[in-house]
Parts: sequence; structure tokens; C-alpha cells
Amino acid sequence: MDPSFTAYYVAELPLQSSIRNFLERQRRFQRNLAVVSSGGTTVPLEKHTVRFLDNFSTGRRGAASAEYFLESEYAVVFLYREGSLRPLQRRLAKLVTDPVTVLVSEGHIKEGVASFRVTADAQAALVQYERALKEERVLEVPFCTVYEYAQYLELIASASAVFERNAILYMAAAVSDFYLRFEDFKSHKRTSDSALVLKLSCTPKLLDLLRELWAPQAFVVAFKLETSMETLHERAQLTASRSGAHIMVANLLHERHHRVWILENGRMEEIECPESDTEIEKRIVEAVIASHRCYLDADR
Ligand code: PMT
Repeated sequence: MDPSFTAYYVAELPLQSSIRNFLERQRRFQRNLAVVSSGGTTVPLEKHTVRFLDNFSTGRRGAASAEYFLESEYAVVFLYREGSLRPLQRRLAKLVTDPVTVLVSEGHIKEGVASFRVTADAQAALVQYERALKEERVLEVPFCTVYEYAQYLELIASASAVFERNAILYMAAAVSDFYLRFEDFKSHKRTSDSALVLKLSCTPKLLDLLRELWAPQAFVVAFKLETSMETLHERAQLTASRSGAHIMVANLLHERHHRVWILENGRMEEIECPESDTEIEKRIVEAVIASHRCYLDADR
């Protein structure tokens, strides 16, 4: 990897030993593992960061998918952008932002107090997540910058290699394609006395390193985001063959939460879920798990 990129790496990542202990525990219990990356990465322009480049990702795809992997008894490492949506929390956050979608009125007011219960869906998610926590089947790892993301991904993917075919690497994070070379990185706030001209370099294709180096036997699910239908399928195919990903989920920015295409073995299948219907992540995870089972069976 380019030394100007890895120059940002820290000597020891804060959750290094928790990650190793977590993975060892899952191995002892012979659980299948899903590593879910989620949310957008930042590219800071200064060390004492005042300004940074960011992207649109909310983390919904990753957080919802992590819940469905947990529901299917997978152990989950959730590598997520600090402040983006997290499993379960994304539902409870609606108690503040959109309460009528999670609360149902009991229909009566007693001594001036109205009572509400959470919807059956939210209750089921709460019970599910509480069980996963009790079983120590989920570990959340926050990142902010593209460098932290890359360093954690390398650590987690390499430590998952012992799971061989039993690990799914589900790469839903929106990774910055460009970064600022370490030699151009400023320590303190840039002045605004003149126009700011930045030359950004290409971020290493981390996806390609998963099968090439870090976890060659893992089942890799990648995502391809475009803003135009004209380029989507072709670019998804190119990225899939370059990286060796087993499944490529292609989506368009503006309709990503109700329509995707799943590309597998050269075949493209469309999944569409209207907003009010089943969450699209449930359908994606079901398709991924079904293909992962075939991948495991092919080895027996
Ligand atoms: O978070 P939401 O708001 O719910 O939105 C979900 C999503 C649109 C972010 C998600 O569905 C999605 O498409 N994620 C991938 C976005 C992206 O980075 O696309 P890409 O075409 O630039 O990258 C393709 C794949 O390579 C991705 O799996 C990405 O994680 C990976 N990548 C990209 C660049 C890079 N240098 N290294 C990588 O590993």
C-alpha cells in the first residue's frame, strides 16, 4: 500500500484487543461471522481538524443489514462511521425524530396520562438485539477517517481469515475514493488568505485486498454506487471482476433504499421494495445468506 496513505496509521488501534478477543470467542462457539462496514469515511484537511471532506452515507444500509445477520444467528462485527446509524439505535432514534412510526397509542387516557407501546417490529428488534448482546455476538467498532477505516478493516479482515469460508465481508461503507497525501497534510488550520487548491490521490482499493491478501477464503459482498443508470451495471461488473467479490450489490443514489440489483456469477437480479413494504436490507441479507450457504456446501 502507498506509504503516503499508511503514514496516517496509528501505532495501536484503540479496539485492537477487543476485536481479537471477540473473534476468538466466536471461533470457540463455531459461529458464522459477518463483518459489516457502514457509513461514510472522512478525509481531514488538517491534523487539528477544522475542515474535512465527507459524503452522503447515512449508515442505514449497514445498520439494518447488521440486524438481519444477527437475526440469522451470525456473529457481527459492525465497523461504522461515528455518528451514523447503528443497529437497534436507528429504530429507537425514531422515538425522537419520527415517534408515530414506532409508537402505537393504547387508545385510552387514564388520569390524564395517555399510554403508548412500541410497535411489534420495534419490540422484536429490541428483543433480538438484547439477545445478541447477552450472547456477546455483536461488536461495534467506530471509525471517522478513511485511514482509521482502512486500518481497522485490515485488522478485522486479517483476523477473520481463520474463519475461512465461514466469514462474510459485507462492505456497505461509502469509502472516500480520494485522500490527501501525508506530505500535503497541514498540522494547523489552513488560512483563507488565498484560494485553496488541493491535489488528492486515489485511495487504495481496499476491496481488492480482501481476497488478494487479508482473508482469501472469505465470502465477499461489495456494493457499487452510481448516480446514473447508464453506468451502473457495467461498473458493477467491472468492480466485481477486478476485486473477485462473490456478490456485488449495485444501487443508485436516489433510490437506494427501495431498489438494488444483485450481481452474482454474471447474473443480475433486481430487488424492489416499496417504502412501506419489507426493508430492502432484509431481502439483500436473505439473498446473501442463501449464497453463502451454497458457498459453504460447495466445500463439503
Ligand atoms: O448508508 P446509506 O445512506 O444507507 O447508503 C448505502 C450506500 C449507498 C452507501 C451503500 O448501499 C453502498 O453503495 N455502499 C458502497 C458505496 C461506494 O463506496 O461505492 P464505490 O462504487 O465507490 O465502491 C465500491 C466498493 O468498493 C464498495 O464496497 C466500497 O466499500 C469499496 N471501496 C471503495 C473505494 C476504496 N478505495 N476501497 C474500497 O474498498
